[in-house]
Amino acid sequence: MPLTLVIFGASGDLTSRKLVPALFQLFRKQRLPADTKIVGFSRTHFSDDEWRRALTDSTEKFSNGQFDRAAWDKFAQAIHYQAGDIGQAADFEALHKRLHKLEGSPKVTRVYYLATAPQFYEGAVAQLGANGLADEVNGPRRIVIEKPFGRDAQTATRLNDAVHQVFKEKQVYRIDHYLGKETVQNILVLRFANTIFEPVWNRNYVDHVQITVAEEVLVGRRGAFYDETGILRDMFQNHLLQLLMTTAMEAPIRFEAEAVRDEKVKVLRAITPMAPDDVATNTVRGQYQGYRAEPGAAPDSQTATFAVAKLAVDNWRWQGVPFYLRSGKGMSCRTTQIMIQFRNPPTMVFNSGSAKVCDANRLVIQIQPAEGIQLLFQSKVPDAGMRLRGTDLEFSFNREFSGVMPEAYERLLLDVFQGDASLFARADEVELAWGIIDPIAAAWSQTGQPPLEIYEPGLWGPMNSTEWMEKQGRQWFDTCPVLK
Ligand code: BG6
Repeated sequence: MPLTLVIFGASGDLTSRKLVPALFQLFRKQRLPADTKIVGFSRTHFSDDEWRRALTDSTEKFSNGQFDRAAWDKFAQAIHYQAGDIGQAADFEALHKRLHKLEGSPKVTRVYYLATAPQFYEGAVAQLGANGLADEVNGPRRIVIEKPFGRDAQTATRLNDAVHQVFKEKQVYRIDHYLGKETVQNILVLRFANTIFEPVWNRNYVDHVQITVAEEVLVGRRGAFYDETGILRDMFQNHLLQLLMTTAMEAPIRFEAEAVRDEKVKVLRAITPMAPDDVATNTVRGQYQGYRAEPGAAPDSQTATFAVAKLAVDNWRWQGVPFYLRSGKGMSCRTTQIMIQFRNPPTMVFNSGSAKVCDANRLVIQIQPAEGIQLLFQSKVPDAGMRLRGTDLEFSFNREFSGVMPEAYERLLLDVFQGDASLFARADEVELAWGIIDPIAAAWSQTGQPPLEIYEPGLWGPMNSTEWMEKQGRQWFDTCPVLK
């Protein structure tokens, strides 16, 4: 069936940096239906050709060297533009007419992508409904909604209600681009397409889990957005909790949207939201030095750019195993990694062996940028009596597979086009995720505890994050990945 993708917020950054480059790669790989149309909608006035020209430059820039002019010229013919304002009913009528004219076929899969600022989501959904654009008589109609989905549980529920007035849940794709990353999907493959990890993937063998999403970049020109959002809403409610769910979930009965999402939701249900007093002891928050001078940030801003949260997944598998989630801007390097720290052997029979938890086996899943997996284990140093040393078994995607790692958006867009919601968040999932984050955000602003620590950019967050972890009897795995 032919496909039409309508992008709301077409003149924005997401469209030019991510969506159109991803669509172009899908086109190059011949994964788009033959009769695909891309229609941009936003307030800026462009003709089709003007928008195509603007996208030519940006796509070349954001295609990681994968730009090919001849292919682009063919692809660009599928791109169209319709100027319009989300607040104006007449502009939706005009859009509706334009779509009919462009499509020229009675049956079409149509996907609406909300890449606008979040305050326009409800309005856009309502207008789509009012103009009959969600109606599925002439083929599937789907809607993709970007993060942030609400700013707390209450607003997320309201947005879900508004969306459900117009679209059925099966038409809705709430995107979290982390789920489109190959290495995140590979966690499921590692866990559920192998048998050797499953028997040790639990409280009997695992001491704790660390999930770190460190970014070297500062907030820069996103200050106004970031100051309102902060690290908890920007990274924890979505990306970090998604990584946690993928690490902690039970095997779904099959890789199929409802089965996968049922298991993920069970993980969230097993996490008891923190009581206000626990927030002071179970979280750390920081702000990098110089943040308040970023354009758009308040001069006395209390917004955290770094946070740690210790979460407990109170179920049979994970009871007593802390999950340490950590993320920050202005860190020493860009790395996203999940570290499963196993327990020490019950007794150490070698005199030179270590009894420290951090020397016990550890599995490190490198999500990015050095995509791969390492397993640390002890081995004997040759010709040195019974001296032991930690060594690694290492798997690197780059070394093992040829070709460029696809961008997360390629996979996710393709899944939407094919109607597969396995890698998208369900309504209950986003609401439950907020239910875990809201008490932390509320306690931070109401009690001021733990204090907001100012940290120097270029390190691993505030010093007291290191001390806090030492008090837990553990150590952060502060390792910048080596690209191989
Ligand atoms: C976005 C956040 O969702 O994810 C950004 O809004 C963050 O603040 C980005 O920089 C990180 O994504 P990635 O894919 O570069 O790890």
